[in-house]
Amino acid sequence: MANRLDLHEDFRWGVSTAAYQIEGAVEEDGRGLSIWDVFGARPGAVKNGDTGRIACDHYHRHAEDIALMRGLGLDGYRFSIAWPRVQPTGAGSVNLAGLDFYDRLVDDLLAAGIAPLPTLFHWDLPQALEEAGGWLARDTAYRFAEYAGLVADRLGDRVPAWITLNEPFIHMVFGYALGIHAPGRTLMLDALPAAHHQLLGHGLAATALRERGGQVMIANNLTPVRPASDGDADTAAAAAYDALHNRLFLDPLLLGRYPDLGAFGVAPDLGGSVRDGDLELIAAAPLDGLGVNYYNPTRIGAPTGPELPFTEAEIEGVPRTAFGWPVVPDGLRELLVGLRQRYGTALPPITITENGCSVEDAPAPDGTVVDQPRIDYLAGHLDALAAAVAEGVDVRGYFTWSLLDNYEWAEGFSQRFGLVHVDFETLRRTPKASYAWYRDTIAAHRAHWAG
Ligand code: BGC
Repeated sequence: MANRLDLHEDFRWGVSTAAYQIEGAVEEDGRGLSIWDVFGARPGAVKNGDTGRIACDHYHRHAEDIALMRGLGLDGYRFSIAWPRVQPTGAGSVNLAGLDFYDRLVDDLLAAGIAPLPTLFHWDLPQALEEAGGWLARDTAYRFAEYAGLVADRLGDRVPAWITLNEPFIHMVFGYALGIHAPGRTLMLDALPAAHHQLLGHGLAATALRERGGQVMIANNLTPVRPASDGDADTAAAAAYDALHNRLFLDPLLLGRYPDLGAFGVAPDLGGSVRDGDLELIAAAPLDGLGVNYYNPTRIGAPTGPELPFTEAEIEGVPRTAFGWPVVPDGLRELLVGLRQRYGTALPPITITENGCSVEDAPAPDGTVVDQPRIDYLAGHLDALAAAVAEGVDVRGYFTWSLLDNYEWAEGFSQRFGLVHVDFETLRRTPKASYAWYRDTIAAHRAHWAG
């Protein structure tokens, strides 16, 4: 049995966060409005009416948070840069005070011996760009590349690698198709141009980053898709879902073409958004690394209605997270081995850029937070990752989601994903049992190789 200690000597350990989920300080230092400020203010949009106005107040407490990271013994920290802090309206000159925050953050991380791994877009689009069409507008891709260049001009001397986008699939589906996330559009399949324009933005930004000497990654939400049965209808439905969730966001990057979405009645030009030369541009800059965000597998059966060519089926007989998501650690091995089989030598080295679970944890009377389900989740997934590596998949690092309990989008503060508990009244941070476990796991891995 593969074991997490066997992960190779240079394996990198990290944690991930995202700007809107932790920073707060939404009106400080010239920051512009983001789509999440506007969406979160809509009655009923977010559980309990929670907003990211204060969140974890990381903007003011980043020194304390870096000290927590240092205590874990991390190699790297994946965070995101808030576009509306850098360009308050998504265009034009830089808001220096906003960029200064990330400049200090990068310096402080380096001083703590932690490599910064910034994501340039984790869903907080400047509201002014949304008013011009958001990711449905082709121009947003060009604006994104301009912003990427501005950030790299300032931080590129200290940041070796960049993640362009976080989970373009989830942003398209939740933000533009179903309206569960900002900007709250309910376009169903008419949301597909938002997929293409994000990928085009990635391609254009990749060129800008590379010109400035940076390496380029993207973080995709990926899931192994299991048919509900081996019958033809379920198998075809699973293939259709796989094309939408996984291949739509990997085939163009790695193979230079979109998958067949005929089962959805969608033409290859994705609602007229794909123009000549776009696919070449998206695939032109080979990825230096692929970020994989993995939470659970998906079970898919034949459609029950005319709207979509699939239905989601329950995965039975497994534990569930507080969110209700099935806990299937081997799904991570299945996903990674499946990616290698599908893409072969076109698959770049992988970093797990998110993996974790929500737990209903709270401080006990003695002040400790015992989150055993999270420890079980992480341990199981790290062993599954080691199994994939033993089967030959090139995985370079693991960044758990997340350092802190934070603003879990439409769920507000109700779902806790942190290694560190945050009291959202006092903003007090309390490391949980999983924090000590992760610290000890990292130390044991190092000790194993130090021999
Ligand atoms: C996102 C995170 C989110 C996490 C848990 C991922 O889809 O990138 O922002 O908090 O999942 O839902």
